[in-house]
Amino acid sequence: MQIIKSIDSLRQTLAPLAKEGKRIGLVPTMGALHEGHGALIKASVSECDVTVVSVFLNPIQFGKNEDLDKYPKRLEADAKLAESIGADFVFAPSVQEMYPDGDPMTLVRDEQLESMYCGAYRPGHFRGVLTVVSKLFLISGANDAFFGEKDYQQVFLIEKMVKDLNFNIKIHRVKIVREESGLARSSRNEYLTDEERAQALGIYNGLKAAKVAYEAGERSVSKIRDTVVKSIVAARGVVQYVEVASQKTLQKCNGALGDEKAVILAAAFFGKTRLIDNMELN
Ligand code: PAF
Repeated sequence: MQIIKSIDSLRQTLAPLAKEGKRIGLVPTMGALHEGHGALIKASVSECDVTVVSVFLNPIQFGKNEDLDKYPKRLEADAKLAESIGADFVFAPSVQEMYPDGDPMTLVRDEQLESMYCGAYRPGHFRGVLTVVSKLFLISGANDAFFGEKDYQQVFLIEKMVKDLNFNIKIHRVKIVREESGLARSSRNEYLTDEERAQALGIYNGLKAAKVAYEAGERSVSKIRDTVVKSIVAARGVVQYVEVASQKTLQKCNGALGDEKAVILAAAFFGKTRLIDNMELN
């Protein structure tokens, strides 16, 4: 396992492997790796010949009052974990390496979806994500890239960007990895106190209850949303949003659900920690 810090050396390392016909898999992360990332790395190792895990805390996807400064940083431990799962390289560039001229003025955006759901509360977040992901795709020349479904809007936007801009890369969605309790794995779970961690189950329990209701025939979008909202509030969480969206377009569903597959998207605060989760209704 090699930790590579410069764009040039990553390119020089990967180019001959690509020439030999090796399939290169990229797992973009911001570090603080947990079992959710582990599942992405595992998927890449099983699908690809070479796996590169990028560890880059991307400043341009954080707002001014967000947790950029307190985001956990532990490159050595991340590299060990990635290696133990079979990754070949960790790409860990500095901010200077990625943005030598400061915040870039050339940005990749989805003008419509970037301001919905999480984007409504995190202005600039998704253009920061799409911009850095585009750079990582171009720098690595990867054939495949792996993203978790916990960040449902993110993976949707990345798939859409790949299609809209003809990136020659295959995007793999990997299912949410949950703790035994059901809480979705997230680097931000580390901020939770024991009490908040127990309360945070309100999101998952609400999503599960909504899915049970859906499977029993409930089709009212407002009733499905209310089930999730009530569960979060009962657990002392503060709801940021709960919405039901089309899996195909990510546009909001209203009224009664028809045949189109939907997904419930939710974000809530437990203490100062903002968590997101989702549940597909199939
Ligand atoms: O999901 C994340 O960790 C980040 O948004 C990503 C995709 C690595 C881009 O910085």
